Parts: sequence; structure tokens; C-alpha cells
Amino acid sequence: MSANIAEMEKRRSAARMGGGQARIDAQHARGKLTARERLEVLLDEGSFEETDLYVHHDCIDFGMESKQIPGDGVVTGSGTINGRLVYVYSQDFTVFGGSLSNRHAQKICKIMDTAMRVGAPVIGLNDSGGARIQEGVAALAGYAEVFQRNVLASGVVPQLSMIMGPCAGGAVYSPAMTDFIFMVKDSSYMFVTGPDVVKTVTNEVVTQEELGGAITHSTKTSVSDLALENDVEALLAARDFFDYLPLNNREAAPVRPSADPYDREEPSLDTIVPPNANQPYDMHEVLHKLLDEGDFFELQPSHAANVIIGFGRIEGQTVGIVANQPMVLAGVLDINSSKKAARFVRFCDAFNIPILTFEDVPGFLPGTDQEHNGIIKHGAKLLFAYAEATVPKITVITRKAYGGAYCVMSSKHLRGDLNYAWPTAEIAVMGAKGAVEIIFRGQDEEGMAAATKEYEDRFANPFVAASRGYIDEVIYPHSTRKRIALGLRKLRTKQLENPWKKHDNIPL
Ligand code: COA
Repeated sequence: MSANIAEMEKRRSAARMGGGQARIDAQHARGKLTARERLEVLLDEGSFEETDLYVHHDCIDFGMESKQIPGDGVVTGSGTINGRLVYVYSQDFTVFGGSLSNRHAQKICKIMDTAMRVGAPVIGLNDSGGARIQEGVAALAGYAEVFQRNVLASGVVPQLSMIMGPCAGGAVYSPAMTDFIFMVKDSSYMFVTGPDVVKTVTNEVVTQEELGGAITHSTKTSVSDLALENDVEALLAARDFFDYLPLNNREAAPVRPSADPYDREEPSLDTIVPPNANQPYDMHEVLHKLLDEGDFFELQPSHAANVIIGFGRIEGQTVGIVANQPMVLAGVLDINSSKKAARFVRFCDAFNIPILTFEDVPGFLPGTDQEHNGIIKHGAKLLFAYAEATVPKITVITRKAYGGAYCVMSSKHLRGDLNYAWPTAEIAVMGAKGAVEIIFRGQDEEGMAAATKEYEDRFANPFVAASRGYIDEVIYPHSTRKRIALGLRKLRTKQLENPWKKHDNIPL
């Protein structure tokens, strides 16, 4: 081996040791993989090509000039997941706590710029003590450069953030602007200010986990889309998830070969809706019966569970699912479920993913809490998102489609392409009981019962809407998969554009 090559090898090996064996051991002792080990799990074997291995910081304050570690706390490059290109960065907590220096940020910016130019997704593995304190504003400038790129990449290439350690202060805002966040339970946390600052300012005593752990963010705040048990589970989930997504906004999602017949009938769906309109059933069961091989990748399962969102496939093609869940709050739309579904609909629309909507919604949730916290504005987000979406939209009303929620849930009037109803559908301004209490106020009990029966007979069905063409067809539940599959085939060539605008003004 020539001396030059030997020198390169020596430098490579040193760089790959990051902050040294002791810190690697400490990382392992916390149940965490190192930055490089994580990339080995995430990417196809041998596919990772590293860039900027020798980059180091240029800080000369606080003795930093004598502390140079090649790579500067982040491993960057590209690789493949099941053969498809992805750009990655993985913060190395063993090097200055994974803190972000200006050079560290430049490395991330470089792979983001390249990903944008070639049209490939970016996955960031975050494990960092935040801005490199010794660098001051230079580190903050680095963050801002990354933020700018997150925004420009939004809607162009999918961006996924994995939170696998600390992510605090300004650091949270890069993941926050990406499309999806997966967090690891017990070892990751995200907050703008940590427990110590919280105690000083508000006198609240709270642990890191309670303040910003994976459970908090996947149940209460919805900052995180999933909470996974450990690094390996999280990275394998990211691989599965990646397979549902297109590489960029000009391509379609990959098609996975499927042995599941497009016209598979599901007779059990004919009886899944209980005869009593107040009795729930599990919408997950409907989804599992309809999607290819029953596979459904659910997002935010523990937040606003009255609406279900996630990805599945029909004839191998990725579809985005939005479904009311009668098991939780009767599937009502409230602030959290509206926001949850709205952002998902916008992601699907930005990335050419057809949207399937399964509707069983008794309306918007009443109450001062909802009204005073802005259900008008937040409910409008979902309405807006569906109305602006130009991807194929197929809706199946399984039972209730009441009031404004009927309009919102991808109705025909919002350019729904195929709007189907099961015979159990009830499409009306509200449920029969509430309706007659308003329009027949003051009647005796007998009169009310008769009026309720009349209202039910007239409106508790899909045929009034179908007679006006608001429903394209009332279908057998058992044939739903076939209807959807045939619909998607026809809609593959759909062309629809919104009027030119700089951007819209969705109620935020
Ligand atoms: N800048 C520079 N170095 C940092 C750093 C930062 N923001 N955060 C951590 N480090 C260094 C530590 O000095 C330590 O270095 P050493 O191994 O040479 O001693 C190493 O990273 C590991 O940090 P440590 O504090 O020992 O790890 P921990 O697991 O006990 O705690 C944190 C992790 C993130 C909670 C803690 O390091 C911390 O509070 N960091 C500062 C967070 C912050 O306020 N960032 C700026 C705001 S954006």
C-alpha cells in the first residue's frame, strides 16, 4: 500500500471512531446505537457512501482549536433503502454531544441541496446537545441555514426526522418542519426549553420524559408521528415507511407487487355496521379488510384517535387513508383530529398519493372548549386541505355523514372523484333525534316519535344524496375493494390544476 493510501486509511479509521471508545461505550450503555451503526440498520447493506468525513470545525474560542474531531459530530451521505436513493445525516453524540457547529450544519446543508437537485428524500437522525455553545452565533447561523432548506424542500422531497437522543432548543425546529417525526421511547426528547428552565420560569417540576419524551409527543402534542421502542425498531419502521413514499413530488410512489386480487370480496363487511346507529365498530377492521394483504402503516395512532391516518396499498399502489373512527368519540371531528388529518391530506396531495376517505362522522364536537380554542379555524384546515387537493380522491361513506362534516370529508362538492356510500349510510344535516327537536319543538311525545320516524325514513339513508348525484353509487360493502381498485386504475391519468397563485392562505 502506498504511503498516501495508508495515510487515507489511517485518517478514515480515526474519523470513524468519532469521540472515542469510551464515549461509544457510554452511548451503548444508554441503549443507543452510534451514528454509524444506525445508518447500517437504516440503509441497504453496503450502500452508504459517506461525504465530508474529514470536515472539522473552525472554532478557536474556549480551547476548541486544540479539539478537532474529523466529521465534526455528524455523519452525512447517501445510500439506498430497498434499492431506492435516500440522503441521510446522522448526528454523532460521541463528538461534542452531537452539537451543531457551523461546519456540522454545512455538511447537512450540502446533502439537502444535493437531495433537492436529484429529487431524493432526506432522512435525518437527530441525537444532539443543540447549538455548539463555544461557537455562539455561528452555530445559530448554521441552524437557520438548515431551517431554510427544510422549508424549500417541503413539498419537493419527503423529509423524515428520527429523534434518537436529545433535541432541544433551536434544534427542534428543523424536525418540526419536516414531514414526519419518529421518536424512540425513553432515550429521546424534544423541547424548546428543558426542565431546569421550566422550573426557573414557571416553577413547574417536570421530568425530561414528561416534558418532551416520545410518549408525550405522540399522544398529547402530535409533534411525533410514532413512538418506537428502541433504535433498531425505529430504523426498521423508517425502512418500511420509506417504501410507501415517492422519491419526490414529480414521481409516483413505488408499486409493490401484490398477490392480493383486486376484486377480493369481503362478505363480512356487509354486516360490520351495527343496526343501532349509536353502536360503534372498529374502522381499523374495515381498513385491514380492504387494503393489500391487510397492511396498514398508521401514523399518530395515539393522538386524536377519533380519526385514523396512514398509508396502505391497493393493487400495490400507495394510498393515503383518512378514516373516522366510530370507536373513539363516535368518530367526531374536533380540533386535534382536524389538524391531524389536514396535514396528512396535504402531504398526500404534495406527493401524488391518492387519498381514500372512509366516513362515519356525526359532525363537529360541540362545547365551549372546542369553540374557544378555535374549532372554526382548525376545522377549516381539513376542509381547505381536501378542497385544494388535486390527487385522486375516493370516499366511502359507511354510516353517518352529518352536517358540515359531510361537506368536509372529501365530499363530491370538494371535487371528490368517486363518492361511494354503503346502504347503511345516513347523509343528513344531523341525526334524526336532534333534527326533530329543532324543527318540531313543542310537540308531545307521540308527535315527536312520529316525526323522528319520518325524518329517519326520509334522511337516514344514502338515496337522497344519490338521487342528486352527490353520491356516485350506493355499493355493496363486500365489493368495496374492487370498486376502489377499479376507481384508482381509471384515475391514474387524472389531470386537475388549481388556479395560478403564489401560494394559498390556509387558516393556520
Ligand atoms: N455544545 C457543545 N458541547 C456540548 C453541547 C453543546 N450544545 N451539548 C453537549 N456537549 C458536550 C458536553 O460538553 C460533553 O462533552 P465531553 O464529553 O467532552 O464532556 C458531551 O457533549 C456530552 O454531553 P453531556 O452533558 O455529558 O451528556 P448528557 O447526556 O449528560 O446531557 C444534554 C446531554 C444535551 C442534556 C446536555 O449536554 C446539555 O444540556 N447540553 C446543552 C443543551 C443546550 O442548552 N444547547 C444549546 C441550546 S440550542
